[in-house]
Amino acid sequence: MDFLSGRSELQAKDFKTKWQAPSNIALVKYWGKKGHQLPSNPSISLTLSHCQTQSELTFSPSEQLAVELFLDGESRPSFAAKIQTFLEKLSSDFPVFKNTKVVVHTHNTFPHGTGIASSASGMAAVALCLADYLYFLKGKDRDDNFMKLASFFARLASGSASRSVFGGMVSWGEFADEAQMSDLFATPFTAHESFNDLCDSVIIVSSEEKVVSSRAGHGRMGDHPYAEARFTEAHKNFKRTIDALRAGDWKTVGHVLENEALQLHALMLTSPESYTLLKPNSLLAIEKIRQWRQATGVEAYFTLDAGPNIHLLYLKKDEKSVKAFIENELRGAYEQVIHDQRGAGPALC
Ligand code: PMV
Repeated sequence: MDFLSGRSELQAKDFKTKWQAPSNIALVKYWGKKGHQLPSNPSISLTLSHCQTQSELTFSPSEQLAVELFLDGESRPSFAAKIQTFLEKLSSDFPVFKNTKVVVHTHNTFPHGTGIASSASGMAAVALCLADYLYFLKGKDRDDNFMKLASFFARLASGSASRSVFGGMVSWGEFADEAQMSDLFATPFTAHESFNDLCDSVIIVSSEEKVVSSRAGHGRMGDHPYAEARFTEAHKNFKRTIDALRAGDWKTVGHVLENEALQLHALMLTSPESYTLLKPNSLLAIEKIRQWRQATGVEAYFTLDAGPNIHLLYLKKDEKSVKAFIENELRGAYEQVIHDQRGAGPALC
């Protein structure tokens, strides 16, 4: 990869940059990894608009790697330690980080403690700043490879973050005839224009901290009796989804969407070390969404990531009725709702 060339000669310098990056919701899920943070199956996601992390990184030469991190102005040593570990790992390929001090100031635009994972948006924002720093050190202007490099860095920190580097729909992982797709970084996916204003209402069922992290969840796929069956299914679902996304076939996308969420949570339940992230209200909401869809014909479909919260996806034309349904029929089953939609991707602040 040419974006990795010439990296060993770089010298640390003073530099400051700030990026904001969005969260994303996977339509086909990445669950299980191989090698060095590579996915066991291809995934595809919708980049969101309102759920963003803004991060400013200040780099300076230093005798050794050091990281300080402030969330909304407050020092967070545990988050700093995560970035430090990430940069330590990166420094074997990018030795310049061994002599860099990094101060991170970060802020999430979505309310803290909502249970929405900030790792995708958070690590994507950091990765964009790192890519900016390396381009600066090389004296290069941002080019077509810039986002690829940012996605490559983001992937090493958190797989789903690799997809938050682009707007719209984004795929990650090698797949048969899709020559542009890679395990190393994500690639933008062009879907039918009818999905340009796809909406996602995030129904926060519980904001409690998860009992098992995503990192641990991926690990538990290692000895899962259904792992191979899952990877085969995920490939099939991926193919169905990209074909339907290109054709503008929302019904098929919606069916796969729900199947993917249920497969993900079934894997957790049937893992040798079993656990559940679903809450009673997650199941109640799923049941009500199905009944309401049956009764009204409104094509709103649910999905979940590795947590109890429901993402309800629907076309813009159905926005009014979906919002009324959430307010009237799901009342009492959630803590709060964030009405989000397809977003344009990250931005330099
Ligand atoms: O990126 P990670 O390691 O937090 O894993 C993300 C896993 C899911 O959100 C459940 C699926 C996905 O593809 O985003």
